[in-house]
Amino acid sequence: MAIGKLFVQDFRNIESVSVNFHADVNFIIGDNGSGKSSLLEAIFYLGHGKSFRSAKVDNLLQHEKLAFTVSAKTDKDCQLGVRKTFDSSLGNTEIRIDGEKQAKLSSLAKNVAVQVITPESFKLFFGGPKQRRRFIDLGLFHVKHSFSEHWREFSRVLKQRNACLRNKTDLKTLEYWSEVFAERSQQIADLRSDYVDELTKELSFWLKTMLPSVSDDIVIQYLQGWNSKKNLLDVLSQYREKELSTGYSLFGAQKFDVRFVLNGTSLDNQLSRGQQKLFLLALTFAQAKLIERVNRVKPILLIDDVGAELDSNSRALLNNAIAAIDCQVIVTAIDKTAVEQLVPLEKNYRMFHVKHGKLSVMSE
Ligand SMILES: Nc1ncnc2c1ncn2[C@@H]1O[C@H](COP(=O)(O)OP(=O)(O)O)[C@@H](O)[C@H]1O
Ligand SMILES: [Mg+2]
Repeated sequence: MAIGKLFVQDFRNIESVSVNFHADVNFIIGDNGSGKSSLLEAIFYLGHGKSFRSAKVDNLLQHEKLAFTVSAKTDKDCQLGVRKTFDSSLGNTEIRIDGEKQAKLSSLAKNVAVQVITPESFKLFFGGPKQRRRFIDLGLFHVKHSFSEHWREFSRVLKQRNACLRNKTDLKTLEYWSEVFAERSQQIADLRSDYVDELTKELSFWLKTMLPSVSDDIVIQYLQGWNSKKNLLDVLSQYREKELSTGYSLFGAQKFDVRFVLNGTSLDNQLSRGQQKLFLLALTFAQAKLIERVNRVKPILLIDDVGAELDSNSRALLNNAIAAIDCQVIVTAIDKTAVEQLVPLEKNYRMFHVKHGKLSVMSE
């Protein structure tokens, strides 16, 4: 699915924007501080119920305002909307899909699969495991439909087991929860391992498109959260004392990670920033393609500040990828020259200009 009409009100510096996006490719050009990232953030919020650059939702509300709204009509005529009210008495989130009120923000995610790449993505991706976990699990959520239920159940069991460890409950109770926990961890690990395999296969195409010089040498290693040669239950009994003294679970599906390896060492040690960006783009395009293939929702790709770190050669490679992907792409840049090379020959597109949080159409 693609966003057709987007309406944003009192979100960051965007007071009121109503815009018609192209179903294929959109470029948003504007100076620093004009509101490019804010616009993408609003779209991301519609898909995730949170921001990609701020943990505090209060930061999204325009100064001196009491509520923000983001709503969209998709190309399939589905109407999605969130309105968040910040009232000193009650903070309130109203979510509507086709006019019907929804209780949870997560119901939005079932309808739009928004993926974003920003200049900060490197730090997040090559910094710690949290972002990598989030990235993989987002894909799983859309591609393996049983994942969210398994994950909810797993999280419940993890909580119970952690409470046992923290409170040093009797051994029998701990053993019971350890058994359930090991079983659930294995389920999650199997789903993830399948998914990482699928992602790796899909990635190969996008690496050939965007990083042809090293595409054959890049490997994704999947670390399931405990020694893969061992049964988790054995690991847990081996480390019981240690877990009891830390007071939480040290092994299991919550600890999984993926490692990107080139010639035996971590990829970020060997690639330039521009190449790293192309790698993250390839990974995101691969995930988008997998999401698209299961056909529940079509992904929307947001690429923020594309000029940063991409030289002319890299942009030409990204252009090939944009031409090859079959989903809506929204790209921002500081000046038009940064995106001129990205204009796909065989696809239609729309170009916008943003200034002080206001959007106008430049060309179609
Ligand atoms: N809550 C807010 N209310 C009003 N303005 C904000 C808020 N948060 C950020 N801004 C301002 O919005 C402007 C646009 O920021 P941003 O979207 O990051 O710009 P760009 O990505 O185009 O460089 C900035 O000048 C910033 O100071
Ligand atoms: Mg920005």
